[in-house]
Amino acid sequence: MNICVIGTGYVGLVTGTVFAELGNEVVCVDNVAEKIENLNRRKLPIYEPGLQELVERNHNEGRLKFSTDAKSAVEFSEIIFICVGTPSSDSGETDLSAVEAVAKLIAKHMNGYKIVVNKSTVPVGTGDLVRNIINKHCVDGHKFDVVSNPEFLREGQAVNDALNPDRIIIGASEKQVAYRLLELYSSLQAPMIITDVYSAEIIKYASNSFLAMKISFINAVADLCEMVGADVEDVANGVGRDPRIGVDFLNSGLGFGGSCFPKDVKSLLHTSGKLGYDFNLLKNVLEINEGRVDRFTSLIRRRFPDMKGKTFAVLGLAFKPNTDDMRDAKSVEVINDLLKGGAVIRAFDPVAMPAAQKVLPSITYCQTAYEACNGADALLLITEWREFKLLNLEKIKQTMKNPVIFDGRNMYNPERKKRLGFEYFGLGRKFSNHMPEKGK
Ligand code: UDX
Repeated sequence: MNICVIGTGYVGLVTGTVFAELGNEVVCVDNVAEKIENLNRRKLPIYEPGLQELVERNHNEGRLKFSTDAKSAVEFSEIIFICVGTPSSDSGETDLSAVEAVAKLIAKHMNGYKIVVNKSTVPVGTGDLVRNIINKHCVDGHKFDVVSNPEFLREGQAVNDALNPDRIIIGASEKQVAYRLLELYSSLQAPMIITDVYSAEIIKYASNSFLAMKISFINAVADLCEMVGADVEDVANGVGRDPRIGVDFLNSGLGFGGSCFPKDVKSLLHTSGKLGYDFNLLKNVLEINEGRVDRFTSLIRRRFPDMKGKTFAVLGLAFKPNTDDMRDAKSVEVINDLLKGGAVIRAFDPVAMPAAQKVLPSITYCQTAYEACNGADALLLITEWREFKLLNLEKIKQTMKNPVIFDGRNMYNPERKKRLGFEYFGLGRKFSNHMPEKGK
């Protein structure tokens, strides 16, 4: 099939590339000329494992093209995917201006029947908005359908998620339109759910909000564990073994960040409010999450009441492992808080340092985790990259001023680290230095 993907951010680039990989002719469009020039030189705007090879192969073989020419791309395609950003304001309201602009663009360049698919995460009712805009701006009266096909890929595993989705959701007003879109996905082994547009739009927000709720829930339980000297990792394991609950997304620590969860929970809360429903549960999810950094830095403050001149080795800057994305990264909040106290920061992240330099210009960036820890008063684990689990901490201990670990992701085993001679501080972990000696 001939496909056009408008917006070459995370979702657009991965979606377009994977559709090309599945044998379709794909044009990815963006209005940022530099991005398109770079993509044509196979220089990707993001770090995503496996994506570079896939882009190169499909670009070489001519199935994947990058262009700023929206007119030709729309004319060429039967199916047009809208994959532009939908940021939210402080109130949680979603900024749909990019979606609106793309809808106008499509209307202007339509030369026949098109299926317009919304893959951007958008509040319920946006399908109607897109349809109205196209109706208003399409001068030639061409027929079209608007479909919602939310994307569930995770950064860091986006290629795998797109090739092996848990489910494919198609929200359409006509079954035949949904079936046409399903043909695109027919070679993927995944449950396919056909529904109406509103339900598909809500599925995306409800999924992300539910996952965020799991994280805040376990973080609240971690606080409870702290009070009695219980271990939140054991509790999460015990709770998660119930298949109705599941062990995933029960990792306690600094809480959720990134470009989706904080924004999507706020957006669902805002939409609910507009519809007259007070979704208090989601307010709590956000409140718990917003308190996590404070909880972490207060542990550091308690151990180092005078931070002035203290050196902290920060391991991990990206909002989560396997990405260079710094959006809503907890590292920024933690580091800014410590800098305010007069601390010196030596940081290392396997891939996010170039991106981090833009938001954290006044810290020292190191070439390795070992270099960051050299002479440090404490090690702060902020992003749980696998390589940090494999570090030789005995070697690190020799070079640190004080052998102290603050584990923001509960990645290390407290007992083992203490046996190595470290002071260990985790969030809701038994044997953490600040925990009561109860619950043995
Ligand atoms: C999320 C959804 O998982 C994905 O389906 C959707 O399409 C986009 O939003 P992403 O933002 O890439 O994906 O990251 P994810 O792996 O879900 O993690 C989100 C945040 O939650 C990260 O900050 C992560 O550190 C945190 N998290 C995750 C926890 O704190 N504990 C957990 O148990 C899991």
